[in-house]
Amino acid sequence: MVCLGNICRSPMAAAVLEGKTADWKAPLIEVHSSGTGSWHIGQGPHPSSKKIWEAAGYKHSHTAKQFKANDFFVHDLILVMDSSNYHNVVSLAETDEHREKVFYLRNFDPILKGIDPSSGDYFKLEVPDPYNQSDEAYEETLAMVERAVDGLLQELKNP
Ligand code: 4NP
Repeated sequence: MVCLGNICRSPMAAAVLEGKTADWKAPLIEVHSSGTGSWHIGQGPHPSSKKIWEAAGYKHSHTAKQFKANDFFVHDLILVMDSSNYHNVVSLAETDEHREKVFYLRNFDPILKGIDPSSGDYFKLEVPDPYNQSDEAYEETLAMVERAVDGLLQELKNP
């Protein structure tokens, strides 16, 4: 899971994916998150993000990291939150195989899966940044992430 600061959206998305797959044996899902920016490396999650995911029943331990080109070698899927994350991540890919690992997380939401990320509708696939916003914004983030993760898990179960 990749966002900008790796303190709000991607750790929340990682908490949801980790929580929903905790009892999966095959495929075994290993979840990591990072940010394209470096400002928060080493920090914990934003308190609002953690508060909202914990209130929904997810537990997740998190220390912020920056996305690195090496991540293309060690992860199967790279799920981004918005178009700037998408372009920043893809710009670090050196092969088609690596580029093809990158998706908008919300492209797995069953209602949004028909949207072509390279079309003018790409913005409908974004998880907006809740940084410095109210708890309600974090709750909306959680709802978007849960719908998309549920869709992703359906695809992983029935490829
Ligand atoms: P995130 O939110 O990308 O969802 O973690 C942000 C957190 C911090 C900053 C930007 C976005 N920042 O500029 O510090």
